Amino acid sequence: MDSYARHLITHAGHPIAGPLTEAALADVLDAALAHRPDAGRLLDLGCGQAVWPLRALTARPGARAVGVDVNGAALAWAAEEAARLGVADRLELREASATGLTWDEPFDAVLCVGATHAFGGLLPTLAAARAPLAPGGCVVVGEGFWERDPDPAALAALEAAREDYGDLATTVERVVAAGWEPVYGHVSTPGEWDDYEWRWTGNLARWALDHPDHPDAAAAAETAAAHRAGWLRGYRGVLGFVTLVLRATCPPVRTGG
Ligand SMILES: C[S@@+](CC[C@H](N)C(=O)[O-])C[C@H]1O[C@@H](n2cnc3c(N)ncnc32)[C@H](O)[C@@H]1O
Repeated sequence: MDSYARHLITHAGHPIAGPLTEAALADVLDAALAHRPDAGRLLDLGCGQAVWPLRALTARPGARAVGVDVNGAALAWAAEEAARLGVADRLELREASATGLTWDEPFDAVLCVGATHAFGGLLPTLAAARAPLAPGGCVVVGEGFWERDPDPAALAALEAAREDYGDLATTVERVVAAGWEPVYGHVSTPGEWDDYEWRWTGNLARWALDHPDHPDAAAAAETAAAHRAGWLRGYRGVLGFVTLVLRATCPPVRTGG
């Protein structure tokens, strides 16, 4: 089973590829497009199935959006969903790496949620998001942070290093020092995390049980069990996720961190 086929199974019934509810997603979009309540141009870097743009376009009849991702299958899903929702004429999908692209017109909101690895981390992502941002526009960035100091079990489960993230305060201080001001933020709750992980592991386990004769069934069951163990014995309550809505400050504010 390729990773996208597995993604479609693991993420069934969950809005995005991260621990946020539909309500949280709507709150973040409202905050990011508060200055353009009915319209606005939105760019989603590493959009996956483009759920953020799809929600923005559905709620705002005058809005337009561009989604960029390297995964053509995810974009094909997004195109079908856009047609179903009647917003296809306002959504442009580009199959490309989000790094190094240039844009003719500025965007009122630039999003990169759960895809900062594409740019080499949080601060390089923010640097890349600055160029296409219209004056007064917002960047939405979704990133992990350490809720608690990670022990070796958590790091092993995440295949991460301690330096990959800071704690929440340090993460926000780094963002501010890089020239950004948070105007809204959503810290995923333990309930949002648990829902995300139960769906991920439960959907895959259910698929394996429902397809016992499929050649990938045993591997899927093993993956579900290993992921569940890595979460429950490793990073549950250790890895956090914050979605920040940011405005650029000029000049950058230096606050340490
Ligand atoms: C965890 S998913 C997040 C998807 C989406 N932002 C969401 O919130 O549901 C990360 C996405 O980043 C995409 N990605 C990774 N590297 C990329 C790159 N260099 N350019 C564009 N997309 C990339 C992956 O294909 C994947 O769809």
